[in-house]
Amino acid sequence: MPLPPRSFIATIEDLRKIAERRVPRMFYDYADSGSWTESTYRANEADLQKIRFRQRVARNMENRNIATTMAGIPVAMPVALAPTGLTGMQHADGEILAAQAAEAFGVPFTLSTMSICSIEDVAENTTKPFWFQVYMLRDRDFIERLIDRAKAANCSALMLTLDLQIMGQRHKDLRNGLTAPPRLTLRNILNMAGKPAWCYHMLGTKRRAFRNIVGHAKGVADMASLASWTAEQFDPTLNWDDVAWIKRRWGGKLILKGILDAEDARLAMDSGADALIVSNHGGRQLDGAMSSISMLPSIVDAVGGAMEVWMDGGIRSGQDILRAVALGARGTLIGRSFLYGLGAGGREGVAKALQILANELDVTMALCGHRNIHDIDRGILMPGTYPGSQSRDETAR
Ligand code: GLV
Repeated sequence: MPLPPRSFIATIEDLRKIAERRVPRMFYDYADSGSWTESTYRANEADLQKIRFRQRVARNMENRNIATTMAGIPVAMPVALAPTGLTGMQHADGEILAAQAAEAFGVPFTLSTMSICSIEDVAENTTKPFWFQVYMLRDRDFIERLIDRAKAANCSALMLTLDLQIMGQRHKDLRNGLTAPPRLTLRNILNMAGKPAWCYHMLGTKRRAFRNIVGHAKGVADMASLASWTAEQFDPTLNWDDVAWIKRRWGGKLILKGILDAEDARLAMDSGADALIVSNHGGRQLDGAMSSISMLPSIVDAVGGAMEVWMDGGIRSGQDILRAVALGARGTLIGRSFLYGLGAGGREGVAKALQILANELDVTMALCGHRNIHDIDRGILMPGTYPGSQSRDETAR
């Protein structure tokens, strides 16, 4: 589904509003929600907004570069698409379309275990390696098979999620009775009837269930609910020995997602992983946890350059990407920012989201007086406005 004609789209927020109109309620809500009171979900964005840049002038701003590497992999900007569950319900074949848009733009796409399109579906419809995300499941044979499938698909990194062994409650999902595919209740039928383009494309694909799992995990011929699968299958005993086991079994680049504390970051360093992601799962897990950006500096300091530190949570603009990079993130991950694009206009919508972020990042970097993303550090930020800094008064003293 292309972006709606004649719509004015300049920001991620513009894409969000279109997605809200075009995607059935239960799937829009699934993306646009945090756990319990959503205080951490809101803090992720709000704390980024508080950080102010230093405006610099009369510095040569020609020939700028925002390309870099993440875990040694070249990226057109310090951004990767985060693994998001049920992406293929925001738009038919959503994972394939997002992966294609990411590939064309030159940033990595991460496929979630809880995706609608399978590893094989994405591999067959893309030409460059993508990344794959796993959870620690009780059924170790199934994880081994998932890892083997990711290897066979030539995935270039494995991302292990550490912060969702037990699922945080999202009230909207309970109220909506979230399932994939949606149950044909009167309420859902009425809601979907108002989303004709979504329905048209969804009826045109065979990919409407959790295709990484259904037919692959023992005894799972039919699985509709993320929440019930999580409760049954995600292993709450997950510990650092399991991380080491995953590392050995995979043998390639490993990224640990969901670190929000310096003490855990030090343990992550010992695991031999290539990168860690400072994350609170987009405010979807521990409600009341600190925002990702506020914990980033202490984690960067704890790691001391021993491994790459990335960040996700609340990135809705190029300015936000620059803020994270200034505070020591080698890269960022975007979830909702690309999902809104996907819901608004399929592959074209994801491409638009990436373009918006890249343009904002490039211009903001220039207005801070810099030409190269590799030169960015805390010096571009106003003291007293970012986590871990002294106030302006203290600096002047
Ligand atoms: C899955 O990772 C979710 O946050 O719903």
